[in-house]
Amino acid sequence: MSFLSETIRKQIEAYIPRYPSKQAVTLPALHIVHDELRYVPKEAIEEIAEMLDLAPSEVYDTMTFYQFFREKHNPLGKTRLWVCRSLACHLRGADKLLDHFCDKLRIHPGETTKDGKITLEFAECIGACEGAPCVLINDEHRLNISHEKADQLINELTK
Ligand code: FES
Repeated sequence: MSFLSETIRKQIEAYIPRYPSKQAVTLPALHIVHDELRYVPKEAIEEIAEMLDLAPSEVYDTMTFYQFFREKHNPLGKTRLWVCRSLACHLRGADKLLDHFCDKLRIHPGETTKDGKITLEFAECIGACEGAPCVLINDEHRLNISHEKADQLINELTK
């Protein structure tokens, strides 16, 4: 019996013909599992390795190299909220914006709210400098985030 659902396995398998080697599918596979489960469990690492003809340690090494993926002890919340703190955003108040999110959510960067709704992170440039200071909500940019807009955003994400 597989740990990964049939849907996840099919999504991973669909990537295999699109890449030059099975090993190259490691990252997409990790993203698929991470998006669905909000962390990557040991059992998933073993199954990805088996599907891609790799050793579990190779999948684990890739996963931990990027420091993007969460493990079982520290899963993501429903929404991953990234606050950019690179130069353009920094010059337009990103540090204070990040502090504001921390105060309002009562968590530090890297942590998840008690209700599991929001994981707060800081990010380096997220490619939307024209809208500094900006954030990413999962994969969606939100630009020109004032403290007022941050409060609206929190309301939206915690409904
Ligand atoms: S510096 Fe924040 S998006 Fe580029």
